[in-house]
Amino acid sequence: MTRVTGSPFDFDAFFRAKPVILAPMEDVTDDVFRAICRKRGAELCVTEFVNADGLVAGSSEATKKITLAPGDTPTAIQIYGADPERLAEAAEIAARAEPAFLDINCGCWVPKVARTGAGAGWLGEPDAMIAMAKLVVSRVSLPVTVKTRIGTGREGTDGMPIVELTRRLEDAGVRAITIHCRVAKKGHDGRADWSWARRARHAVQIPVIVNGDVRSADDAQRALHETRCAGVMIGRRAIEHPWVFRECRKQLDEGVIHPRPTHEERVELAKEHLSALRDARGERAAVRAMRGLYAGYLSGVPDATTVLRRLPAITEIAGVLDVLHGILG
Ligand SMILES: Cc1cc2nc3c(=O)[nH]c(=O)nc-3n(C[C@H](O)[C@H](O)[C@H](O)COP(=O)(O)O)c2cc1C
Repeated sequence: MTRVTGSPFDFDAFFRAKPVILAPMEDVTDDVFRAICRKRGAELCVTEFVNADGLVAGSSEATKKITLAPGDTPTAIQIYGADPERLAEAAEIAARAEPAFLDINCGCWVPKVARTGAGAGWLGEPDAMIAMAKLVVSRVSLPVTVKTRIGTGREGTDGMPIVELTRRLEDAGVRAITIHCRVAKKGHDGRADWSWARRARHAVQIPVIVNGDVRSADDAQRALHETRCAGVMIGRRAIEHPWVFRECRKQLDEGVIHPRPTHEERVELAKEHLSALRDARGERAAVRAMRGLYAGYLSGVPDATTVLRRLPAITEIAGVLDVLHGILG
């Protein structure tokens, strides 16, 4: 089925506008969450990573993850895998879903992924990574991008492979690179070191996107200023505060601080997300999936603490909505 996406995605123009992008996050950046963030200013969303082997085998889970609804644009599809040919085939399959572009995950540090050679596993085999990227680029007409880390962590702290790697990825035909500015073995520990994004950015012509520890409009402004990168990507902060995108945009474009979301907006978001999840996945899944989100969404709302204590025990959507309706009296 062909999606109605409007005009084709203008990759170069998009990155000239210093976009603020929703990071790919497993079990988080599904279609529902992408819509929530897009409505609040995310200028591009990336799907959670999709297993290339699963896609090639026609798994329903992988196929569902790459299925983009008509309004789900611009969205990039991220794939991961250890086998270059399978990645190339998966890219061909994902391209048919008409994403804005295809991203290859070369940064996942989780041992069950990296140990197989996928994700950050590629960082240990730079020659193989470049050959894989070249192969994928050769097989699809859509732009191909890579999201990776500054190194594995086995290099020490001085020399990171990311600068040379970025140069080689550009030569391989990769159209942009996102750098999560930590070594893979650190997971999410310690501070992201944006200076590596700056060094990599100065080595290439293609857009470099800085990622890691951008939690506010101030952070986004600082990250873009310090690195001169083409865009900024936000992950964890969006889970608790999806308004971060509009706050970033306002400050980047107008130098003005966007007002914080009102209490009403906070409650409305909780209701909107819950209802959208119910429509997409059913009542039980919706109630369960929302439990981890209320603390962030309702932060600062009067009586939120009491409400947060009551919500986990409620298993039916009507009960949750009752509590949410009652919050602001
Ligand atoms: C729950 C969770 C799931 C993630 N899943 C993915 C993923 O599927 N693909 C990917 O490239 N990165 C994934 N990441 C990493 C994020 O995209 C991002 O690089 C990282 O969280 C650093 O950015 P932040 O400090 O803004 O969160 C995940 C992170 C989290 C917290």
